[in-house]
Amino acid sequence: MYLPNLLARCAAGEKIAALTCYDASFARVLVEAGVDLLLVGDSLGMTVQGHATTLPVSLDAMRYHTEAVARGAAGAAFIVADLPFGSYQESPAQAFAASVRLLAAGANMVKLEGGAVMRDTIAFLVKRGVPVCAHLGLLPQSVNQTGYRVQARDAAAAERLIADAETLAAAGASLVVLESIPAALAGETTRRLAIPTLGIGAGPDCAGQVLVLHDVLGLTPRPPRFAHDFLAECGGDIAAAIRAYVAAVKAGGFPGPAHCD
Ligand code: KIV
Repeated sequence: MYLPNLLARCAAGEKIAALTCYDASFARVLVEAGVDLLLVGDSLGMTVQGHATTLPVSLDAMRYHTEAVARGAAGAAFIVADLPFGSYQESPAQAFAASVRLLAAGANMVKLEGGAVMRDTIAFLVKRGVPVCAHLGLLPQSVNQTGYRVQARDAAAAERLIADAETLAAAGASLVVLESIPAALAGETTRRLAIPTLGIGAGPDCAGQVLVLHDVLGLTPRPPRFAHDFLAECGGDIAAAIRAYVAAVKAGGFPGPAHCD
């Protein structure tokens, strides 16, 4: 699937159901269950590799998992791959070289973390044929500065986040992930932007939702408040759990009040 197909779904008012995915088998299951967007997230540093953070994830690891996911999805889903920590912050040229490796591995888009400081990098990539998803709010690659907690709670930080989102959209980003911010702020950001927002811990008023697959399958020892164990609800049937997640996102039933700040 290509970007215009995904954007057409959003334009038709359909909510985008996204999940992280790290291998070919799950890519097949997720595609068959109707997941629109597979995110090869650098959360694989925790879920697959057992690290405490995303920081040790290498570009080689991202390339390896992106190739596996692309083989499993066989063109039937939109694939976004994370640029890992240290692979893009130095310069736009560094970001382009890293993006080339992920697109060659089968990604349709790369995702990078950061606000207005990423404006020139995003413009550089987009001008060279690399679709970009921005990532605002809680930035796991900056955990050493922020810890894992809800971001942009005060008015000044909320204004900054909206301004960053507008700057990155103007630079050419085609999607933006909003992670761990108050639901009202995510709703306001979504209304202000011409590009779709994908929320994770950001309330129901985003253009779509993304979750870490392992949170949906009840595999995370201390899941975040915004996560939901769909597998437990579906009696241990993985395909049914993914279908339940997709249905809940599309119907606007997930996230509910229990998952929001
Ligand atoms: O790597 C990841 O799983 C992500 C999600 C938190 C959006 O970036």
